[in-house]
Amino acid sequence: MKRQQIIIFGTGEIAELADFYFTHDSEFEVAGFTVDGAYLKQTEFRGRPVVAFERLLEQFPPDRYGIFVAVSYAKINAVRAEKVAAARAKGYALATYLSSRATAFAGFVPQENCFILEDNTIQPFARIGANVTLWSGNHIGHHAIIEDDVFLASHVVVSGGVRIGQGSFVGVNVTIRDHVTIGKKCVLGAGALVLEDQPDFSVVAPRGTERSPVPSTRLRNL
Ligand SMILES: CC(C)(COP(=O)(O)OP(=O)(O)OC[C@H]1O[C@@H](n2cnc3c(N)ncnc32)[C@H](O)[C@@H]1OP(=O)(O)O)[C@@H](O)C(=O)NCCC(=O)NCCS
Repeated sequence: MKRQQIIIFGTGEIAELADFYFTHDSEFEVAGFTVDGAYLKQTEFRGRPVVAFERLLEQFPPDRYGIFVAVSYAKINAVRAEKVAAARAKGYALATYLSSRATAFAGFVPQENCFILEDNTIQPFARIGANVTLWSGNHIGHHAIIEDDVFLASHVVVSGGVRIGQGSFVGVNVTIRDHVTIGKKCVLGAGALVLEDQPDFSVVAPRGTERSPVPSTRLRNL
């Protein structure tokens, strides 16, 4: 059976990874890539054509091709959300990647343009919006709600009943206590421990561990 054809928006590292994951672990086949005309520096990427987004309809029409927007969390996820809206406006269906190595249960319905990598655990009754990236290894507790356009880095603990507001960024190793609500467009920095609700646009970021004044050469037992 012929696989569904998609075009990936982007030619950066995330696009390279998206191509890898879709090719090796999905029902989709990546036919080519697209970027905004102003950023078009190459006609080929990973052995397939790159076309200007402005000319995509001519070469890869939406009745035959879907699209996946492989863009990072730039401008706190606004760039990716803009590109998703632009693709939708041109009439494209947006593909989603759900790793075969992620754990999800009956009743979980992935929305469009999600990128859900290996070792994510999505417990029953959790809901995940559109255009959400779950990098590898997160725990999404039961009854949690992740709104549209959110990006979770790796090894985040989203406890049961947590809500993460639209467009928020959650860094590596963040822990969010059960039933806490994170507002829209928040940034939770790497390693944050979040025990209470946060208003829209909050930044919660712990300082990194301080370097010892003692050099490693002076440690006696190592
Ligand atoms: C929290 C985080 C986003 C801050 O980013 P940043 O680029 O260092 O922030 P900036 O340098 O632009 O800082 C902006 C302001 O916030 C302040 N700030 C930054 N980190 C802070 C912290 N931990 N505590 C208090 N204030 C902080 C800065 O002092 C600065 O204030 P100023 O403008 O008055 O000088 C970053 O440290 C982080 O945790 N990123 C996520 C890493 C991660 O998970 N990566 C995986 C991606 S897949």
